[in-house]
Amino acid sequence: MTDTMLRGRLLSFHREPAGPEDRDAFDYVEDGAILIRQGHIAASGAYADVVAKAPDAPVIDHRPHILMAGFIDAHLHFPQVQVVASWGSQLLDWLNGYTFPAEGEYADAQHARHMARQFCTLLADHGTTTAVAFCSSHKGSAEALFAEASDRDMRIIAGKTMMDRNAPDAILDTPQSGYDDSKALIADRHGRGRASYAITPRFAITSSPAQMEMASALAAEHPDCYIQTHLSENHAEIAYTAELYPGARDYLDIYESHGLLGPRTLLGHAIHLKPREIAALADTGSHPVFCPTSNLFLGSGLFDDAGLRARGISNGIATDIGGGTSYSMLQTLNEGYKILQLQDQQLHMLRAFYWITRGNAEVLGLADRIGTLEPGTEADIVVLDARATKAAALRMDRADTLEEELFVLQMMGDDRAVAQTYIAGVAQKSPG
Ligand code: GUN
Ligand code: ZN
Repeated sequence: MTDTMLRGRLLSFHREPAGPEDRDAFDYVEDGAILIRQGHIAASGAYADVVAKAPDAPVIDHRPHILMAGFIDAHLHFPQVQVVASWGSQLLDWLNGYTFPAEGEYADAQHARHMARQFCTLLADHGTTTAVAFCSSHKGSAEALFAEASDRDMRIIAGKTMMDRNAPDAILDTPQSGYDDSKALIADRHGRGRASYAITPRFAITSSPAQMEMASALAAEHPDCYIQTHLSENHAEIAYTAELYPGARDYLDIYESHGLLGPRTLLGHAIHLKPREIAALADTGSHPVFCPTSNLFLGSGLFDDAGLRARGISNGIATDIGGGTSYSMLQTLNEGYKILQLQDQQLHMLRAFYWITRGNAEVLGLADRIGTLEPGTEADIVVLDARATKAAALRMDRADTLEEELFVLQMMGDDRAVAQTYIAGVAQKSPG
């Protein structure tokens, strides 16, 4: 018998909540259970109903904690695990001074494999069960991450970074090698198990026009792959990009004119956008990705979530490790709340938890597989304890509603609030 049952309070979203009062957007079951069979959710709902379906299944009792779909991180950098918390600079100096040297070490396949293990462990410890990751420019770094994710049966979307200029030789590819390595990785990994490939030109500064042509060819040849890159994060970056592509109408046009936009395209940051760029994002169904801890750490600027949403654009949310300072999607929500406050916008708790689960799943076109507790979906589940620290427990003594509890998790939670993480039904955190 391979069945396992988890018991606890269930929370799962079936659409985006319209406001903090919109209780119809989610299912909340006070005494609930999830039946896991062969890595999938076979049933979920009231404990009495689920137990009737599998009376012999062993029960793991997580009461009084909340069981929710595992978190989805829509943008982060695997070879930046040792770059987090590097002092004192903004984007371009930070890349040159810290990030590029660290990524050079991923030419060593053993280093890449070792770091891939740390990276996936950290994700799981923080409740993240799906990640959309940049690797280094070395093919072996992507192989290492795909192998580690596959060993854990973890859903991963990743790609070898394409970059052929304006960086140290140790991390440069060429238009041809970038194309060939990406192509080989797509053949090897895309659609195998829980892995998908993301064609990954780093950003316009580090890709020559010849390399953009190659990225364009890959995108045309593999329309079912994702595309990930960076857009309009920092003023100096935008000015330099305009010098390098003098014929482009604006930053986004560089990607647009190469056929790189569409519903499978994720654009990290997208902070300083011009009206034409916003219109093009809306027309193409591309997805900006909000990276709050990174945008604050690198002093990049304030993401206009409400402005983009008002144009019908659907945004992802992500940690952006290692420009970001926390692996925790809860901490990401915390800083995201504050960035929106500075613009007189609000990130209410229901939308916040929708966003890091089903919301990001919808951005990825994967809501039929991840992001909810619905039967038939993959059993990626996080167990949340809002009383995990003394400070949070004290605050929780005055929390009377689910919404208040969620807001405590949103503002005060981190990996300590993650009591357990299940990936494809398998517990990832050691007990204790
Ligand atoms: N733009 C291009 N590369 C990077 C990166 O590694 N991190 C961030 N935050 N922005 C980028
Ligand atoms: Zn990034």
